[in-house]
Amino acid sequence: MPRYSTLINLVLFVLTALLAINIKMSAPKVSTNDWLAAAKYRRSVYGLKGTSKVPDSRVQEIVEEVLAFAPSSYNTQPVRVTLVTGEKHTQFWDIVIDIAEPILKAAGDAVWDKMSGILQSHKASYGSVVFWEDTTVTEEAKKTHASYAHLFDSFGEHATGMNQILVWTALELEGLGANLQHMNGIPPVEEALKKFLDVPASYKLRAHLNYGDEPAAHKDTVPPKRPASETFKYVH
Ligand SMILES: Cc1cc2nc3c(=O)[nH]c(=O)nc-3n(C[C@H](O)[C@H](O)[C@H](O)COP(=O)(O)O)c2cc1C
Repeated sequence: MPRYSTLINLVLFVLTALLAINIKMSAPKVSTNDWLAAAKYRRSVYGLKGTSKVPDSRVQEIVEEVLAFAPSSYNTQPVRVTLVTGEKHTQFWDIVIDIAEPILKAAGDAVWDKMSGILQSHKASYGSVVFWEDTTVTEEAKKTHASYAHLFDSFGEHATGMNQILVWTALELEGLGANLQHMNGIPPVEEALKKFLDVPASYKLRAHLNYGDEPAAHKDTVPPKRPASETFKYVH
């Protein structure tokens, strides 16, 4: 009898394991065209409001989910993210504007006249998802995979980009608008933001998504693109 129950237990174990494998491996119930339509829905949205119909906890959940599955070279995972909302988000933009102002003014009054309005409109948005690359991970990977060392700087960029597009799309599917900014274009701004957000010296600012409620109905028309005849080739 004990042998018999062992056999039953074994069969049950195998069946449960098979079921688990099946559950894990079956594709989610979203069609390829639905997935593409969702990705296509993402737009650069400007003039964002200082409100968010999506709770911060949900944005956090989305970012953590993306970080938990997005790809990176050799699965090295160099991407780090800071979510900034509320008063901290306003202070974030005050820092950007204070430091950028003399630098942009030095480039000419016309540059500052144009940029100050743009920066103020970013400041008026609700929050930022800030994407960093932890360069200690990148430097370590260069040693571990020495023959590919020359590729890891760009791999770090690719990995953060993949996280960016996933979070950007997800936030817009939630009903928010977002635009992608690169304040790392002004190095002293990056240094000040690192201090303000208290991240390690090894972090490099790669981009940040400004987000908030949309000022108008979502514009889902894709901006004009080059024809496939120019961008695609099928070799067979
Ligand atoms: C790598 C990359 C860098 C970008 N940098 C900026 C940026 O610094 N500021 C900005 O307003 N938009 C930026 N954008 C947004 C593009 O201008 C925008 O994606 C493009 O015009 C197409 O519009 P869409 O986002 O609505 O499809 C960037 C996009 C990518 C992919």
